[in-house]
Amino acid sequence: MIVYKTEREQDIMRAAGAIASVVLNEVGAFVRPGLTTREIDEFAAGRIRHYGAKSAFLGYRKYPCNICISVNEEVVHGLAGPRRIQFGDIISLDVGVRYQDYIGDTAKTVAVGGCGLLAQKLIDVTTQALYRGISRAMAGNRVVDISRAVQSYVEANGFSVVREFVGHGVGRTVHEDPQVPNFVEPGKGTVKLKPGMTIAIEPMVNAGTPAVKVLGDQWTVVTQDGLPSAHMEHTVLITDGEPEILTCPENLPSSLQAR
Ligand code: MF3
Ligand code: CO
Ligand code: CO
Repeated sequence: MIVYKTEREQDIMRAAGAIASVVLNEVGAFVRPGLTTREIDEFAAGRIRHYGAKSAFLGYRKYPCNICISVNEEVVHGLAGPRRIQFGDIISLDVGVRYQDYIGDTAKTVAVGGCGLLAQKLIDVTTQALYRGISRAMAGNRVVDISRAVQSYVEANGFSVVREFVGHGVGRTVHEDPQVPNFVEPGKGTVKLKPGMTIAIEPMVNAGTPAVKVLGDQWTVVTQDGLPSAHMEHTVLITDGEPEILTCPENLPSSLQAR
């Protein structure tokens, strides 16, 4: 069932999205060689609390961490632990916060220090793929228009999109209808986009083949070929006009700005 948000709900989602975005930026700036992923997760927990929000992921389907931290060949849902970040790693950070009962969900992949040229191109292509997808998120279009824009750009640049995990509606829960895949499948993606829909668009892009597997911890998704993967995500509101990115710092409520 698709949940269309009222103007009041859209306002709350602007605030939730802004908090998620600001926290993501703060965590991205905090990441440096020598830190463990657990220390990064603890920093994120503190920043989420600072803005009066809660992690939307901690406890979701028993997920044990505050944010998702996925290093190099890890695609999504990496678990924080004793692993130390090294110079040249690429780190995918996915932040979901609950604020006044609504969720903001946003992710980005950052290079630590400097990464190799392949990893940098992977990050750049994934970023561009996200914005191409967002540009199709217009009322009257269908979900598949987003999927096609992402997939065609990624594959034209020699990379591949993950099939097993997809974007999604978002609101009072992390995952709502509709699914928003990053690839086109015959007969799928026919849902029409309408004003008031709020969706998370989130390309997961592999440098090598699209194949992934889940590690024994039951959460961490890695590439089967061991090559790196990148992930970029925004929560987006469908409007009468241009898509509105909800996960941007500009909408941080003024009451939360000078804290
Ligand atoms: N952040 C993921 C998404 O973008 C969801 C993570 S669910 C969790 O859809 F349980 F792993 F946290
Ligand atoms: Co996410
Ligand atoms: Co998401």
